[in-house]
Amino acid sequence: MNASPNKVTIDLSALKYNLLKIRELVGKETRIMGIVKSDAYGHGLIPIARELEKLHIDSLGVDYISEAIKLRTGGVKTPVVVLLGISTPQESKNVVDYKLTPVIFDLDSARMLSEEGKKSGKTITAYLKIDTGMGRLGIDFQETGLFLKQLMGIKGIKIEGLFSHLSSADQQDNTFTKTQIKNFKDAISVSCKLGIELTMNNLANSAGIMRYKETHFDLVRPGIMLYGGLPCPGFADPPPLRGVMTFCSSVVQVREVEHGTPISYGRTFYTDGSRKIAIISAGYADGLSRSMSNKGQVLIHGQKTRIIGRICMNLTIADVTPIKGVKRGDRVFFLGMEKGNTITVDDMARWADTISYEALCSIGSRNKREYINEKEISQDS
Ligand SMILES: Cc1ncc(COP(=O)(O)O)c(C=O)c1O
Repeated sequence: MNASPNKVTIDLSALKYNLLKIRELVGKETRIMGIVKSDAYGHGLIPIARELEKLHIDSLGVDYISEAIKLRTGGVKTPVVVLLGISTPQESKNVVDYKLTPVIFDLDSARMLSEEGKKSGKTITAYLKIDTGMGRLGIDFQETGLFLKQLMGIKGIKIEGLFSHLSSADQQDNTFTKTQIKNFKDAISVSCKLGIELTMNNLANSAGIMRYKETHFDLVRPGIMLYGGLPCPGFADPPPLRGVMTFCSSVVQVREVEHGTPISYGRTFYTDGSRKIAIISAGYADGLSRSMSNKGQVLIHGQKTRIIGRICMNLTIADVTPIKGVKRGDRVFFLGMEKGNTITVDDMARWADTISYEALCSIGSRNKREYINEKEISQDS
């Protein structure tokens, strides 16, 4: 993280609002696993996990054992699911010691967990990762029966539920998602026929939660929705969500420049008429995507205005000709709301030709974070 004056603000009341929206969508019976991997998508692992715990989230999902240990040593008691499972005996010991729930997708890790369980006399509760079409981690859904039969020969492992991931639920065309749902249901019925009782089957990410009720099963796994972002820019008919992160910087210089003045590296922009420009103290080293050069916008005095020229390592230039009285030290929002105007993370993602996930992770990990509205949550819950 750099030592810049730029600031990320995390609004914990927005996190609460988004979780309530998710609860409304999935209903009371469906459990919720809040995905807090990658430093809670740049929002801060421990503060976000603590708030979600206060809000009675059912479980938390992280990628690595190291993140799970951070949660436990940070005082988080909620069940923690390790999405990438374990790969060494030490990690399987960590599962027992820190009371973690791993995801399993091969027999080797199941054996390691079983060994560790035997030593401590404990049954290890885990999820079984099935690939229903994502083409990533997991066992092929058609091999569910075979795998489970082998797993039944390994003592001390209890599978709570099948776990799979959707690849295309954000897209308008629902054909592939319907196929994944069918494959998942097939895998569940094979498991039932083997007499395995599954109570925590789960498939839905944020896009699944918002668009396909039939993906909710026993448990859903929202990530981006919790943080107020969408699975892709232009995602159709989202529920109302509130951005949790804002990012602001400040003006370091205001200049009047003549018609035809080249702006920034590579002279990709020449002023069209005499203009007033603001030089802002944030750039790609602070997490802004360079792809927003000549495309993105900022909010100054609550007004949106365009970014001109290339975004530099720690500086960005905006055309402030239409905005009265801009001066050195004025606040500039790259992400957030001011005087009723908003730049959302999905706006940023669209300008940068990326997704909100990437924008949040890169801004959140590179700047000082301040948390607000924590009290309100503590009092309410
Ligand atoms: C396995 C798994 N489940 C759930 C999620 C959450 O997805 P989203 O942020 O789209 O809700 C992710 C994120 O990539 C994931 O990898």
